[in-house]
Amino acid sequence: MKKIIAIGGSNSKDSINKKLAEYAANQIKDSKTLVADLNEFELPLYGVDLEKEMGIPENAMRLNGLLEEADGFVISMAEHNGSFTSAFKNTIDWLSRINQKVWKDKPMLLMATSPGGRGGATVLGAAKTAFPFLGGNVIADFSLPSFYDNFTEEGLKNEIMKKDLDKKIQEFQATI
Ligand SMILES: Cc1cc2nc3c(=O)[nH]c(=O)nc-3n(C[C@H](O)[C@H](O)[C@H](O)COP(=O)(O)O)c2cc1C
Repeated sequence: MKKIIAIGGSNSKDSINKKLAEYAANQIKDSKTLVADLNEFELPLYGVDLEKEMGIPENAMRLNGLLEEADGFVISMAEHNGSFTSAFKNTIDWLSRINQKVWKDKPMLLMATSPGGRGGATVLGAAKTAFPFLGGNVIADFSLPSFYDNFTEEGLKNEIMKKDLDKKIQEFQATI
């Protein structure tokens, strides 16, 4: 049984990205999903001086340990002002101080969604560029626009988008 870590790149309690990541991860056969909620790994704002003072926080060590145990990651990112949310970027910065290979060369399905029509395309593009430098092995990527029109509690309701995501989930599944 493979272990998939699903992450919403946001600290909102009702994050739509956390929902999308969990939904996609749950489609992967013969695997169990563990949702790593950033709120359960709260971290102070990264700074070199703070790191000198306090070292690496326990929550960063704990999250890093979870990532070490995973077979792959399903990540969906929220977009704030065209970039990562502060909470997600801050988490990555702390993790990179433990190991520059934050994503540990493990397969990743990388996604973004937003209530707007661009579906977080800008942050998705930024992550696709940055993550390979952080040990990210991005197998497939998917952007879901207009989340509230296209997603219900039962999952993706737009058939064309669902087909596209299913294909990407299969590509990812073949690598774990
Ligand atoms: C400070 C801030 C900046 C935002 N900037 C963007 C943006 O650049 N692009 C976008 O599509 N949505 C933007 N949004 C809307 C978010 O996509 C929306 O809040 C979404 O629910 C965030 O995902 P989450 O629920 O997973 O946190 C912004 C929201 C906030 C609060």
